[in-house]
Amino acid sequence: MPATTSPKPAPQTFRVKSFGCQMNVYDGERMTEMLSAQGLTQAGEGVDADLVVLNTCHIREKAAEKVYSDIGRLRRDDGSRPMIAVAGCVAQAEGPEITRRTKSVDIVVGPQAYHRLPELIAKAAAGEVALDTDMPAISKFDALPARGRSARVSAFLTAQEGCDKFCTYCVVPYTRGAEVSRPWGQIMDEARALVDAGAREITLLGQNVNAWASEDEAGRRQGLDGLVRALDRLPGLARIRYTTSHPNDMTDGLIAAHGDVEKLMPFLHLPVQSGSDRILKAMNRSHDSASYLRLLERVRAVRPDIALSGDFIVGFPGETDADFEATLNLIRAVGYAQAYSFKYSARPGTPAAEMDSAVTPAVMDERLQRVQAQINVGQLAFNQASVGRVTDILLERDGRHAGQLVGKSPWLQSVHVEEAGAAIGDMLRVELLSAGPNSLAGAATVAAAA
Ligand code: SAH
Ligand code: SF4
Ligand code: F3S
Repeated sequence: MPATTSPKPAPQTFRVKSFGCQMNVYDGERMTEMLSAQGLTQAGEGVDADLVVLNTCHIREKAAEKVYSDIGRLRRDDGSRPMIAVAGCVAQAEGPEITRRTKSVDIVVGPQAYHRLPELIAKAAAGEVALDTDMPAISKFDALPARGRSARVSAFLTAQEGCDKFCTYCVVPYTRGAEVSRPWGQIMDEARALVDAGAREITLLGQNVNAWASEDEAGRRQGLDGLVRALDRLPGLARIRYTTSHPNDMTDGLIAAHGDVEKLMPFLHLPVQSGSDRILKAMNRSHDSASYLRLLERVRAVRPDIALSGDFIVGFPGETDADFEATLNLIRAVGYAQAYSFKYSARPGTPAAEMDSAVTPAVMDERLQRVQAQINVGQLAFNQASVGRVTDILLERDGRHAGQLVGKSPWLQSVHVEEAGAAIGDMLRVELLSAGPNSLAGAATVAAAA
């Protein structure tokens, strides 16, 4: 017997809230476009919606638990609530457990099944709890409507999904499934549609996007570098980025592309997680700190100005002071332009969750602070070293002050400018004048076309 709730009117308006990584943001955009194509209206900011889709993240406990407090907050003053769909990685990981924990959820839909949202909504309207966490053989991408008519200046495009690496702490191989590469033609079509809709920069996404491999139109085997080179030839597209990459999938071809593909931006997010080989082994990372550093040297040899970024986990089970010092040393040695750091979070079903020698919360807090301080030192140094550079920035949004615009440098730094006549979507030549830890200020070297 399927679980039931009370029948509800079919929703007319909706809102999608995405948490987690860029791929979730991308999925949220695709859901929004699909629901709009179905005739539903996106509710404006602060306006009550008939349907709320919570597009969730399961990567750390805090992120995963957030969905339950969010559901509580959706209750209205009169005691009623919208139709609620839990999508994303919590939906995949917890499935029916969600509707056991709370009676306020109507739809549970996994990241590989959201193209079926319209049917699930109909089911929910009929008073049935609608659950779909299949990983169907036919890709959702074949079922989704083509990209919308307006795209962000800097658009995301999922090229690869899933992960076969099974780092011992990580839920992604379970929530997103095995590594799958979208076909070449599908990606190129979507890229063209995005450019036609106003995108000037495309970031190719994947949990391990540099593992992308497929065949081109001529049936030739291609890796991510081939795709990047094809996008380089796309008229109207100004910039290409890709994220996230695994060190083991940095091929010679991709490294070479950083040296000679003009539109490929000098930025590489290449997580290493720890500087301790003992911990890397326990994490099943299948690289060590020396091989990681050698890899970065090879990238720097072809692109000396490349900005590097990484992810770090502190407090993995058994991490000693010496292990942690090795991480700080690696961060110092690399000189990251930016990096993310997280406290280890034991995730149900992962091998690391069974490991002994947990690091205490107090030590974890202290290590996180120290790692973040070290990252900030590097980030500020990188930004300060950029002062005086003359470079192009792609204007992406309005700034906080009237007349201010914010753009991105090739090295993914946020740059504030005040330039009458310039508009979002413009590429503006600026001189970088001053730097803080999180952004820079610049001034146009040539007046923008009015
Ligand atoms: N596929 C990408 C991103 C994975 S999730 C990659 O491999 O880089 C993004 C980051 O979250 C990871 O790089 C890792 O630093 C962090 N992370 C993943 N699982 C975690 C856990 N259980 N606890 C704390 N941080 C975690
Ligand atoms: Fe998770 Fe590791 Fe796969 Fe990244 S490479 S998604 S950290 S299992
Ligand atoms: Fe989170 Fe899933 Fe992305 S767990 S980080 S939303 S792949």
